[in-house]
Amino acid sequence: MVSDIFLSVWAVARVAGCFSEQCPPPPSSLRVDGMDIVGEQELQALREVIRSQRLCRERKGNAVNAFEEAFAGHIGRKYVYALNSGTSANEASLIAAGVRPGDEVICPPCSFIATSLSAVAVGAIPVFADVDPRTLILDPDAIESKITKRTKAVVVVHLFGQPARMDRIVDVARANDVRLVEDCAQAYDATFRGRMVGTFGDVSCFSLQQSKHITAGEGGMIATDDEEAYRKAVLHSNIGLPSYRYGVQKPVPQMAAGLPTRGHLAFGHNHRMSELQASVALVQLGKIAQFNQRRAVLAGLIAKCLGDLEWVQLAHVYPNTIPNWWEYPIRLRKTARMTAHDFCKRCEEAGFSLSCYKEVNYLEAVYQEMNHVRRTSLGIRLPPHVRYEAGICPEAEKGASRLLSISCHHASDPGPFEERLKELRKFIIDLMSRK
Ligand SMILES: Cc1ncc(COP(=O)(O)O)c(C=O)c1O
Repeated sequence: MVSDIFLSVWAVARVAGCFSEQCPPPPSSLRVDGMDIVGEQELQALREVIRSQRLCRERKGNAVNAFEEAFAGHIGRKYVYALNSGTSANEASLIAAGVRPGDEVICPPCSFIATSLSAVAVGAIPVFADVDPRTLILDPDAIESKITKRTKAVVVVHLFGQPARMDRIVDVARANDVRLVEDCAQAYDATFRGRMVGTFGDVSCFSLQQSKHITAGEGGMIATDDEEAYRKAVLHSNIGLPSYRYGVQKPVPQMAAGLPTRGHLAFGHNHRMSELQASVALVQLGKIAQFNQRRAVLAGLIAKCLGDLEWVQLAHVYPNTIPNWWEYPIRLRKTARMTAHDFCKRCEEAGFSLSCYKEVNYLEAVYQEMNHVRRTSLGIRLPPHVRYEAGICPEAEKGASRLLSISCHHASDPGPFEERLKELRKFIIDLMSRK
């Protein structure tokens, strides 16, 4: 993201003719492309859809159906519903979990903002619980401390591809009769005690956006074993039409005033996945093992090249978990005597584009506004115990100030990637010894 913005500014400056010694070249990301994100197979799949002249999902024999079935088999859940984005999947997962307007939904402050804003979108109230500062993942005790009579669900995010402590979190959710949603947008195929993330909660959701482990440019899906949850997700995402599959019974549309109706059973959006997206997603799913392996190699190189530096701390990994890194998180130790923000700025000036962590959701303007007017963006009144202001999750703020991440996207070629890491290592040693 940072490098994207920088590249656009640089491109504009270049067109304007100011690309000279005064205008520095853009910092290149550590990523060194060696593998195409999408290739011939995806192109072939797209050609087939285009040849078919059917780009919108239909009931039988189409790419969306094939992708849903393949993904259900991949993670081992009964029902999968494919959507047009991960954000739509976040929203559908809350509806599937039974969240209704006015309910409270416990969310981590540290996640892409879609996780918590989806609660707002369905008329609910996001309640932020604090995180483990080592991982920025929800702390089970903090979840418990935020449960009230109005709490309907908790959304746990397996941040950066690291599984949350699911044993404790499942216990807290069960003991308090709260539904559990897993946001797996950043964590395909990661495991906790040998079990894949996305199989612990009542519902789980995924993203197929460009940066993810597999992509269709945009896209998402929800997965569940609960037929009722599946039905709710379909209605919400398909304008209330019961386009159920997996043998789930559909009501027959009724006659009204002597006229046939179409059978819209509930309020809903059109958040369907298209055939074009699904054809690409299906090919990508077939490559996921290869992508995962490449990501593990790249993360290993980051650990090898930077792990012994006294100023940085590698990702903290919980016992019995196998992460599948989306980006590789690094914490600056106190000995670095600078924030992650300043550190990333210095690295960027030297041509290394790292991502400083910027996702403490309640600090964003949209939450500040809700806090000010004491209503959510959909007009739901905030109860007095819900506040969106600096200091409500101190561990999140402390942890975020020290956290940065390095892309370990599978497109990178390990050889040149390692060379860039070695250059970064030298730069860090030099930077720290100059202070
Ligand atoms: C944790 C998390 N949740 C939800 C989303 C939303 O996914 P999308 O960008 O596909 O809408 C993302 C995407 O970046 C994410 O990282």
